[in-house]
Amino acid sequence: MARMKTLTVDLGERSYPIYIDTRILGKSDLLTRHIPGKQVLVVTNDTVAPLYLEKTLESLSAFDNDAIILPDGEEYKTMATTQLIFDKLLANRFNRTATLIALGGGVIGDITGFAAACYQRGINFIQIPTTLLAQVDSSVGGKTGVNHPLGKNMIGAFHQPQCVIADTDTLNTLDDRQLSAGIAEVIKYGMINDYEFFLWLEENIKSLLARDTEALAYAIECSCQNKARVVAADEREGGQRALLNLGHTFGHAIETGTGYGTWLHGEAVASGMYMAANLSARHGWMSSEDLERIKDILQKSRLPTFAPEEVSTDEFIKHMSVDKKVLAGKLRFILMKGIGKSFITEDIQHNLLIDMLNEMPRCNSQVLDK
Ligand code: NAD
Ligand code: GLY
Repeated sequence: MARMKTLTVDLGERSYPIYIDTRILGKSDLLTRHIPGKQVLVVTNDTVAPLYLEKTLESLSAFDNDAIILPDGEEYKTMATTQLIFDKLLANRFNRTATLIALGGGVIGDITGFAAACYQRGINFIQIPTTLLAQVDSSVGGKTGVNHPLGKNMIGAFHQPQCVIADTDTLNTLDDRQLSAGIAEVIKYGMINDYEFFLWLEENIKSLLARDTEALAYAIECSCQNKARVVAADEREGGQRALLNLGHTFGHAIETGTGYGTWLHGEAVASGMYMAANLSARHGWMSSEDLERIKDILQKSRLPTFAPEEVSTDEFIKHMSVDKKVLAGKLRFILMKGIGKSFITEDIQHNLLIDMLNEMPRCNSQVLDK
């Protein structure tokens, strides 16, 4: 049997491990070595709780443990939901040595990390990601936060977890649409700066969609290695970490413009990555062959390469102008000089941006939920 993979996010005294394996959820020794105090609160939602909460709590029997079960959905990634966690912590007199455990997808991870960053000015937290997207991206790197009606992820903090426990067995209960949304973020790493990985993905996309255990483990490991390297070099996004936002400027505009939860985050990122590739090609930076390969792998992954008909070109521009990457009023884009060669630029031709947005095929968002 393959041995558990342990990667490290190297951040000096705040370094932490990412454990990747089957059957590690509920492994008491793995989890408890990262809990310094006595009090533990598991934060999860009403979809994940019936699947994995009991097993998680069993492994915490040596602690004063409790759980809070939040409503499920991107639309609940709000300050109001975070307040429910604070209410529980205060009502139960949790102190500064308490640990929060995020058990769920990226929404639970982001809210829990944010609550941990704020409660009594910062307490420990642990990530137990249960979606592919969370295992390859959101649980690693310490970006935490919630949405605001006017902008995605606009309220938040950098707060690193004590460890990440990615049990690949949990992906067996994920539906196909959510699996594909996670694959979007996996493809992202190949497009940013790992051409070899992109080639591997082109050859193995069917195995990933069929949930082949070894293919999934390899894709998660490669993705986390890529992310850990970037985060270690630029934790607070002063420079190259912005590359991890490939597709997100357009994607966040889709999520905000259609109402949170209509498009899955990974779907919006997929469409946004195609738009970034398309805009790169229009500037002559990317060949039409590379653009086709990107479209092909996204479509094979059952991901959208169209925009929502509800979001007009003007609305794209409006939502994009509240993106966190806007500097001194200038939009910044992550574009590509070929697959695996991404770069950050403010220097784009506005007319090409408008042409690209106008010419993107538009579809009713309901086709995603077929
Ligand atoms: P999600 O958390 O909404 O999870 C998707 C759905 O799957 C939910 O209904 C959830 O309850 C369900 N689910 C979770 N685990 C399951 C399992 N094992 N079996 C069955 N169902 C399960 O969405 P997501 O795609 O995991 O994460 C998206 C969020 O992550 C977005 O809010 C996005 O902004 C955020 N994000 C954050 C970062 C970061 O660096 N912090 C990076 C990428 C994305
Ligand atoms: N998902 C982008 C980042 O973590 O920086």
